[in-house]
Amino acid sequence: MSSPEGGERDGAFRVLIPAEEIQKRIREMGRQITEDYQGRRIVLISVLKGGFIFLADLIRHIALPLDVDFIAASSYPTSSTSTGTVRFVMDAEIEIQGRDVLIVEDIVDSGLTLEMICGRLMTRRPASLKVCTLLNKSSRRVAQVSVEYSGFDIEDYFVIGYGLDYAERFRNLPDIGIVDDLEESLKRDLEKERVCV
Ligand code: IMP
Repeated sequence: MSSPEGGERDGAFRVLIPAEEIQKRIREMGRQITEDYQGRRIVLISVLKGGFIFLADLIRHIALPLDVDFIAASSYPTSSTSTGTVRFVMDAEIEIQGRDVLIVEDIVDSGLTLEMICGRLMTRRPASLKVCTLLNKSSRRVAQVSVEYSGFDIEDYFVIGYGLDYAERFRNLPDIGIVDDLEESLKRDLEKERVCV
């Protein structure tokens, strides 16, 4: 199939959640958040890098005054398997003491990233701290974390697209999907690029 990264990809990209379905669900989530936080001004903290597209779409469906900030953590440096070690890369700067904070994640898998982020943010004594994730691999959970808003519960697949990457690629795909032979597919893509240069 053709890819917005340019050209044809050899690997078979199977769409798991089409762009329209993602947008429909985000509209519903935005409405729910608007209802739940009525009369309050919330702080949304997006977890980079994967969460930036979700945050951008989500805030346009939240009809409340809000602040936005970012935090960056990395758990899968270059592969599709968690190393179990979470590396903290960048902190949020906004003052959250006494504020209603909503963490915006692309995907919660083992929950280790979220556990680390929540622990860190809780030391700043927010009035409340909740989690909103687009994707939830609840069957893979290792850490005990609560997720208040979850877009789609998915099986144990490694997914790409809509902000989610594999080795920093494929974030720009509008759908969320799976590439069966991901590693092989990436190698072929890199080989093609090398030949083209
Ligand atoms: P956790 O710490 O295991 O919950 O992993 C959370 C982070 O791992 C997410 O924020 C993603 O960056 C990454 N991740 C987990 N599963 C996937 C996936 O299926 N595709 C792409 N990234 C993933």
